[in-house]
Amino acid sequence: MTDLLLLPGDGIGPEVIAEVRKVARVLTPDLQIAERLFGGSSYDEHGVPLTEEALAAAKAAKAVLMGAVGGPKWANAPRDKRPEAGLLALRAGMEVFANLRPALCFNALADASSLKREVVEGLDFMIVRELTGGIYFGSPRFIEDVPTGGKRAVDTQVYTTAEIERVARVAFELARGRRNKVTSAEKSNVMDSGLLWRQVVTDLHARDYADVELEHILADNAAMQIVKNPKQFDVMVTDNLFGDILSDISAQLTGSLGMLPSAALGEAGKPGLYEPIHGSAPDIAGQGIANPLAAILSFEMALRWSLDQAEAADKLYAAVIKALDSGARTRDLGGALTTAQMGDAVIAAL
Ligand code: NAI
Ligand code: MG
Repeated sequence: MTDLLLLPGDGIGPEVIAEVRKVARVLTPDLQIAERLFGGSSYDEHGVPLTEEALAAAKAAKAVLMGAVGGPKWANAPRDKRPEAGLLALRAGMEVFANLRPALCFNALADASSLKREVVEGLDFMIVRELTGGIYFGSPRFIEDVPTGGKRAVDTQVYTTAEIERVARVAFELARGRRNKVTSAEKSNVMDSGLLWRQVVTDLHARDYADVELEHILADNAAMQIVKNPKQFDVMVTDNLFGDILSDISAQLTGSLGMLPSAALGEAGKPGLYEPIHGSAPDIAGQGIANPLAAILSFEMALRWSLDQAEAADKLYAAVIKALDSGARTRDLGGALTTAQMGDAVIAAL
């Protein structure tokens, strides 16, 4: 049985996943690892970004680690065959509805943040983004000609009580193991889906999680507060679209997109999907300079949450801190190490 299925993907995806392979060989040599094409590289080979066989392999593994997909090469592929469509299909097919995105500040990097050191030092909050519903999946969606001229485009946001409740439950459970506070972000002032969101979270809180502090915030204010005073947050739960944006803002607090891992979880016992939050970075792909730490930290999350290897995860996390403390930096962090040299620095720290 496969423990870990690797989906390197496109652009810098294969470059950063190669470093995970190197680390795994040293840290967890017994781990059963398999690999499949995914995204644009799968489209080129098989005509689709995610084959049924690859999806079946993902569902049969204990954990899936994805690199990144997409790039200008596939910009004109039919929409349902684009690499990004493969990613949405993978998330939906694996039924991973809760995306956990830590916003962490590694103290060795606090000066690389766009914000002042005192604003980010010691920062540790978690965004829980709903991942399989909302406007990225709603129908109808189309672009059509308008008889009076021009076109119109329609996207639809749909959220059910059950979808909101299960992701909110993940947030409350997480908060209990942390600083016991959940902030729920929506736009209940202008959207019905936001209104239902607030109501369902409030009801669930009263019913099952009254011991956790709950706060509601409008998503635009959340964006502002994340930049102004991010340390006020512990766990922030929000929908797919707002979560996409708020987690990218949060990523920048820590200095580089190349540092941040993520996990996407479904029902207990099902495989988790782990991926760095960055994309395929076509601007630096092929140069061997991408930061592999987001991918390596995604592997760390997989070890912890899907592979039952907390001890190895602890070792790996400590090794990343040690490598950073000793000055290891790729270019995005203001250094000169290549992708492979950063992987080597982590292995040396192990
Ligand atoms: P991106 O995350 O690929 O790049 C944004 C910027 O951050 C670029 O300047 C890039 O060089 C830099 N960067 C990203 N990861 C880095 C790393 N590990 N080390 C050093 N620098 C890094 O986002 P962008 O440019 O908006 O999207 C590029 C492509 O990636 C698009 O096709 C997009 O659809 C796709 N994408 C895929 C994602 C995924 O596979 N989950 C997520 C986001 C975008
Ligand atoms: Mg994004």
